[in-house]
Amino acid sequence: MTQNQAVSTAAPALSVRDLRKTYDNRVEALKGVSLDVAPGDFFALLGPNGAGKSTLIGIVSSLVNLSAGSVSIFGTDLVADRSAAMRLIGLVPQELNFNMFEKPLDILTNYAGFYGVPRAEAVLRAEEELKRAQLWDKAQMMSRTLSGGMKRRLMIARAMMTRPRLLILDEPTAGVDIEIRRGMWKTLKEINAAGTTIILTTHYLEEAESLCRNLAIIDRGRIVQQGPMKALLAMLDIEGFVLDIDGTLPATLPRIEGTTLVASDDHTLDLEMPRAMDLNRVFATLGDAGIRVRSMRTKSNRLEELFVRLTGENADKGPLGNDVPAAPEQVA
Ligand SMILES: Nc1ncnc2c1ncn2[C@@H]1O[C@H](COP(=O)(O)OP(=O)(O)OP(=O)(O)O)[C@@H](O)[C@H]1O
Ligand SMILES: [Mg+2]
Repeated sequence: MTQNQAVSTAAPALSVRDLRKTYDNRVEALKGVSLDVAPGDFFALLGPNGAGKSTLIGIVSSLVNLSAGSVSIFGTDLVADRSAAMRLIGLVPQELNFNMFEKPLDILTNYAGFYGVPRAEAVLRAEEELKRAQLWDKAQMMSRTLSGGMKRRLMIARAMMTRPRLLILDEPTAGVDIEIRRGMWKTLKEINAAGTTIILTTHYLEEAESLCRNLAIIDRGRIVQQGPMKALLAMLDIEGFVLDIDGTLPATLPRIEGTTLVASDDHTLDLEMPRAMDLNRVFATLGDAGIRVRSMRTKSNRLEELFVRLTGENADKGPLGNDVPAAPEQVA
């Protein structure tokens, strides 16, 4: 192995340094973004509307020119060696952009042909990808007749035709119902498990939580937080639970210091408490008040809370409104 190869093996799948983008209308979409995505990672890019996610993805996939900074893909510099960098990437853009009057099989083989994949190989790959996307039985149908979810899966299958080492998806499941979304999650997990690094943007926070190991949160052109998903979730010191109660709740609820207890209806309680607090104390107090808890579940909106806390108007406030130190750049 040459020294050069050794370097690129160790290189991040994506390395972005002090990336800036000012559009012609002088909107500063990116104000110095730096991030690294490790090879093999499943990485989420989260942020509110207009944060700069699509601009970042556009630059990485060479659809948008950068104003300053650098981007490299598996060690290949995007500006110095654009075509080599592009060959490593598969892009699933947010908008459907295939020819609706072509058949899925043709869309895939033509796309591969455009990237120099020999015809016979392209046909083999197309069958494999259409089967993985559960579209093999639609291979010869007019794409226009596919359902919305099928069209989205076709976009992923097409991006995989060049066997990219880095797959980038801009809101791949937007507007797709939960069942199809879960099917797509399974496909993406398989693609990642087979070795492809994946970066996705999404507005579905449970999607990032279920798929991604690492994430960056971007707001107004800056990264406000990045690190492992678990570490970010652990930063939240408040946990929410929904308690189902046997029978009907009394008119007055007991007070449990340090917690917020609210009846959301006659037999359901909404509980928020510090992570470190003992649940037994809560159950004991509820028991003393004649309230029997039949079942409980965690409210799975922690990422949402984190997101609001980091990017919202009260970004300098903790979840209880207490002042927290400025968000660290990196969470170990
Ligand atoms: N082609 C363009 N010309 C001028 N301004 C643009 C262009 N594309 C995006 N912008 C602006 O750059 C900023 C970032 O937009 P971008 O599309 O990157 O955000 P986003 O995070 O992808 O948002 P969303 O979640 O809504 O897709 C916005 O203020 C947007 O109006
Ligand atoms: Mg966008």
